[in-house]
Amino acid sequence: MEKFQIHGGRRLSGVVEVSGSKNSALPAMAAALLTDEPVVLEHVPGVRDIRTMGRLLADIGAAVEAQGSRYSIQAGCITSPEAPYDLVKTMRASSLVLGPLVARAGRARVSLPGGCAIGARPINLHLSGLEKLGARIRQEHGYIEAQAPGGLTGAQIHFERITVTGTEDLLMAAVLAGGETVLANAACEPEIVDLAELLVKMGARIQGAGTSTIRILGVPELAGATHRIIPDRIEAGTFLIAGAITGGDLEVRGARPDHLGALLDKLRGAGVDCAAGPEGSIRVRAPSGLKAVDVTTQEFPGFATDLQAQWMALMTQAEGASIITEMIFENRFLHALELARMGADISTQGHRAVVRGPTPLSGAAVIASDLRASASLVLAGLVARGETVVDRVYHIDRGYERIERKLSAAGASIRRL
Ligand code: EPU
Repeated sequence: MEKFQIHGGRRLSGVVEVSGSKNSALPAMAAALLTDEPVVLEHVPGVRDIRTMGRLLADIGAAVEAQGSRYSIQAGCITSPEAPYDLVKTMRASSLVLGPLVARAGRARVSLPGGCAIGARPINLHLSGLEKLGARIRQEHGYIEAQAPGGLTGAQIHFERITVTGTEDLLMAAVLAGGETVLANAACEPEIVDLAELLVKMGARIQGAGTSTIRILGVPELAGATHRIIPDRIEAGTFLIAGAITGGDLEVRGARPDHLGALLDKLRGAGVDCAAGPEGSIRVRAPSGLKAVDVTTQEFPGFATDLQAQWMALMTQAEGASIITEMIFENRFLHALELARMGADISTQGHRAVVRGPTPLSGAAVIASDLRASASLVLAGLVARGETVVDRVYHIDRGYERIERKLSAAGASIRRL
């Protein structure tokens, strides 16, 4: 199993480039199932989840060609409208093929994802939404079978709670449904807007993406399109925190500052100088001492849950007590225990963690439990005294493109074992 070996204590400086967004590219790839023409996606990140989605689409019958960060996907015909357990268990986002398959092929068979390290993460809202659009849903042998042989029909869908992939799944189902669909209490994340832009290029009629009410007027068919994926705001945010935690002076290039507002506010509150430059560059300069700042995770435009673990690592180096409240997932503090093994002073109770700092961290052998938790352990390793070995880096490879190379180029001592 691959590991990262990190020697801490080096300031990061120079430039680091942001890749395309994993969480935007995944639904965009699934959207290619909605047409028999080619969909070309640019700026797709070279991460494991994307390769998994490529394999899934190929199993379903699509021709998937990748050339660097450019993917061409053509689902000429759907030969097997199924997402098997083997793939779903390694990547929950596989359930994003459910909506497009029912819309295009009239049926889908998708394995139910099991529990997850960060919470239960059911997909009940995807399913009840599809039922409203007229699909018949059955659950058998751990699989969801959805059928709509006569096609889907537009409906009013009010999400009980905000769900990112649920909004994406139903948006993709509704674009080919007859008549109008209204998605209320929809997610407003930039990844939803990016997906809607791709779908509109393919011929869909969508209004309101990026707000909590999305209106879709179904069309009989969609065509191919070419689309450039937005920059990964979570990768960018992780690098901004890396600059800040190492006392560095780092330029994060190719980001979208408008997607990072909540993080930039909090960084400034902690005393970090963040300056937006031309073409999406953000320069972070760390102060001589960081201040503790509380965060509460929320849906966009709030503070992203996918940056909570990284923020916790940063707060171990800040003066004072910071309260971190996790509102999206019920079990997303596994990194706290590993950070504590490195010397952090963190107590957790329910969905709240209190970090008292600054505490010197000392290198240790730690285990990554999920994607963003692994990023926080890497950040802690960058500032810890001595050697840190992060085990199970396959988690980090799911969502960060060659993170060790990007960090080394900015002066970190990190290598893959
Ligand atoms: N939820 C339900 N029922 C549903 C759907 C969601 O109860 O049918 C609950 C979830 O259990 C959770 C909350 O609603 O407590 C929000 O979950 P959401 O559906 O928004 O999460 P997701 O769509 O499964 C995406 C990202 C996650 C990110 C969350 C929140 C992708 C592929 N994944 O997941 O990204 O944390 O939104 O922003 O877009 C990551 O990249 O590391 C990652 C976990």
